[in-house]
Amino acid sequence: MSAGKKRVAILISGRGSNMVALIEAAKAEDYPAAIVVVLSNRPDAAGLAHARAAGIETAIVDHRQFGENRAAFEQALDAQLQQHRIDLVCLAGFMRLLTPGFVGLWSGRMLNIHPALLPQFKGLDTHRRALEAGVEHHGATVHFVVPEMDSGPIVAQESVPVLEGDTEETLARRVLEAEHRIYPQALRLVAEGRATFSASGGQQTPR
Ligand code: GRF
Repeated sequence: MSAGKKRVAILISGRGSNMVALIEAAKAEDYPAAIVVVLSNRPDAAGLAHARAAGIETAIVDHRQFGENRAAFEQALDAQLQQHRIDLVCLAGFMRLLTPGFVGLWSGRMLNIHPALLPQFKGLDTHRRALEAGVEHHGATVHFVVPEMDSGPIVAQESVPVLEGDTEETLARRVLEAEHRIYPQALRLVAEGRATFSASGGQQTPR
């Protein structure tokens, strides 16, 4: 890895197609970030095999081993991030809600991708809800993570048309293609310091 590249961890729970898009983008010599580790809270996440095939280190922090103890789960996650000297965290289909404490530790240094044009359609089932609402445009958003779900400052967004006859599947596919374009772009902006976010309350104190 060239000196000066930001060290990135990607957190997944499933398929990992956004993870793959980030790994592919980071292969470019002039990309300002290197994917150092992929962490999953699920041992069976399909994305893990893709990460390993790409030669990226993986680790599992299985939330079920911590029962109700969310703090212990997050401490284990944070320990992995510290151990790998991570600068930036990318959530990519990571299906655990993170506590304000953990989010505060990584404030301004953690991104998420959401399959909708935020602030529209926060939460789950965005494609179904977009079709039900009859919107003409849907899309994807990359944002800084803040304690409130799907609510942080937006780094990148791409809109796609909703077409006559779209089903959840066809719409999801079109949005996913946009996701794969904007996540690498957004990570570049943040890694280069061209998109920044500093929460009030001094949460960014380096450790
Ligand atoms: C994506 O639609 C992403 O926006 C959402 O979860 C899905 C993850 O897909 N947060 P993948 O695992 O990256 O393929």
